[in-house]
Amino acid sequence: MAEAMKGLHRTHRCTEVTESNIGSEVTVMGWVAKQRNKGGIIFVDLRDRSGILQIIFEEDKCGKDNFEKAEKLRSEFVVAVVGEVVKRSGAVNENLKTGTIEIIAKQVRILSEAETPPFPIEADSKTKEELRLKYRYLDLRRPDLQRNIILRSAITASIREMLTKEGFLEIETPILGKSTPEGARDYLVPSRVHPGTFYGLPQSPQLFKQLLMCSGYDRYFQIAKCFRDEDLRADRQPEFTQVDMELSFVDVDDVIGVNERLIQKVCKEAIGLDVTLPIPRMTWQEAMDRFGSDKPDTRFGMELTDVSDVVKECGFGVFTGAIQAGGSVRGINAKGQAEMPRKKIDSYVEFAKGYGVKGLAYLAVMPDGTYKSSFAKFMTEDELKALVEKMAGEPGDMLFFAADKLGVVYNVLGALRLQLGEAMGLIDHSKFNFLWVVEFPLLEYSEEENRYVAMHHPFTMPMDEDLQYLDTDPGRVRAKAYDIVLNGVELGGGSVRIYQSDVQEKMFEILGFTKEDAHNRFGFLLDAFKYGVPPHAGLAYGLDRLVMLLVGADSIREVMAFPKVKDASCLMTNAPDVVDDKQMAELCLAHAIPEEE
Ligand code: AMO
Ligand code: AMP
Repeated sequence: MAEAMKGLHRTHRCTEVTESNIGSEVTVMGWVAKQRNKGGIIFVDLRDRSGILQIIFEEDKCGKDNFEKAEKLRSEFVVAVVGEVVKRSGAVNENLKTGTIEIIAKQVRILSEAETPPFPIEADSKTKEELRLKYRYLDLRRPDLQRNIILRSAITASIREMLTKEGFLEIETPILGKSTPEGARDYLVPSRVHPGTFYGLPQSPQLFKQLLMCSGYDRYFQIAKCFRDEDLRADRQPEFTQVDMELSFVDVDDVIGVNERLIQKVCKEAIGLDVTLPIPRMTWQEAMDRFGSDKPDTRFGMELTDVSDVVKECGFGVFTGAIQAGGSVRGINAKGQAEMPRKKIDSYVEFAKGYGVKGLAYLAVMPDGTYKSSFAKFMTEDELKALVEKMAGEPGDMLFFAADKLGVVYNVLGALRLQLGEAMGLIDHSKFNFLWVVEFPLLEYSEEENRYVAMHHPFTMPMDEDLQYLDTDPGRVRAKAYDIVLNGVELGGGSVRIYQSDVQEKMFEILGFTKEDAHNRFGFLLDAFKYGVPPHAGLAYGLDRLVMLLVGADSIREVMAFPKVKDASCLMTNAPDVVDDKQMAELCLAHAIPEEE
């Protein structure tokens, strides 16, 4: 049986023991990372959340009883060790914070024993992620995950400190709310007391934070859990955390100002990174035209070029057809890639098709000045020359072109640019390129729903100079909306809000809500606006994404303690799960699961 803690008090975490403790006695506790028995001497690497400390057991120093216990130690046993700190007798271990010292054990107590873990507890694990997630509590002992989780805590603390100092109040908003889907699907919770009704879990605290502004709290923030039932990706989880904020009596520049100070402080404190202010700003239109993306990775060039003008009368029907249909032809120049093997080219063509274009045209400018191309035969020498010139093509370059509706062209080339940039090694992974993308369109047209949908959300304020088009040409109205982008990832987004009931009602109308619909869903907000509402604006970061980028992880799963997998399940707890009939009956719920074919 394991022994208890009686009479023992931990004096230090493993790596809190330093050379300054040499000669004194310490009590450390943790997990056995490694035990090596060299006959008369036993080495134990003791691990806790701070790192590793080497313990030495020699029978004449610790006595027979303790030595026998040390012989029994296996990986992941939990032990307490009392001993004396000494300078390392063997070689200094440069890889350890405690590499110059060791502990000569006087006493060891086994606090609990452990079975052999299903995978090694080590950095840079080669273990399959599914297994790691099933045993997440073991995975979380690994040093790289520990570092991420600890850094996450530090980042959160630094955000809280900064915002509090700037006069923000931390206020919690409900998790059990009203379902007002817009964007992703809501997660629903059935009510027992009101059978047949459901709470919706918040996709963000958007409405509540606006109501807090109506209530006069003027600067709010929250580290808020949000829930979205959408397809998962490396940077998307069904439940995730936002750093959410809202400010009264402000415009775009005020929100950006506070957030630049926040980003600067957090980056400095978390990873020692100096962010130069102001962070560059780019309009949405410029981002799309230059990078084919509203979250451009500006760590490398290879920008898009509009060649529509040059090819509008050429002999290649794919190009002229697209332009005649109101579309566009644009290209990117993969410098020095003219000799790209055919197979590689084909794989890029297939990649492009995945983004909705029918094909991808290419033109290699060979080192000898000749062309290798999928379409050169349809063009005259002059037409080709003009095209290459427009693309700043030089011998050795590979030019790719997409012809389609402008939106499709942006998407295809934006994605291809990232793919090529990575493959060609153009991305400097030590860079942190922050960027504000501003002046988003207010609306985008959904072919699927046959109506305008809000690009950010329905509460976003149109730009003053575009308000006049709200009735006549809603598609051209730009919004007071901004995203903060880091290295091609959307870190956060926000907007100045509509605070006039009439503009808000107009907005709902454009989005195709009937008056009744709007009042059913958002009536409380429209009502609140009647009783004195300050102009307000806000922003929310994805905290998981911020931490992911700052620690250099590939996925937000690596910075969340207990993440879910692609199908939104938890491999450790098996959630979601069926519930028993009694619970179903209490909630007046019945299954209607379609029978399997
Ligand atoms: P938005 O929907 O842009 O804005 O969300 C803000 C930020 O939250 C992060 N995020 C996610 N992170 C992980 N998994 C997800 N499924 C996920 N979805 C979003 C992103 C994103 O930039 N209420 C508005 C903000 C505002 O206007 O103030 C909102 O929620 O990093
Ligand atoms: P096709 O005439 O369809 O065989 O296409 C000739 C070339 O044009 C091939 O290389 C296609 O991949 C390419 N192509 C087809 N559709 C498009 C498009 N929408 N944009 C760019 N290139 C295309």
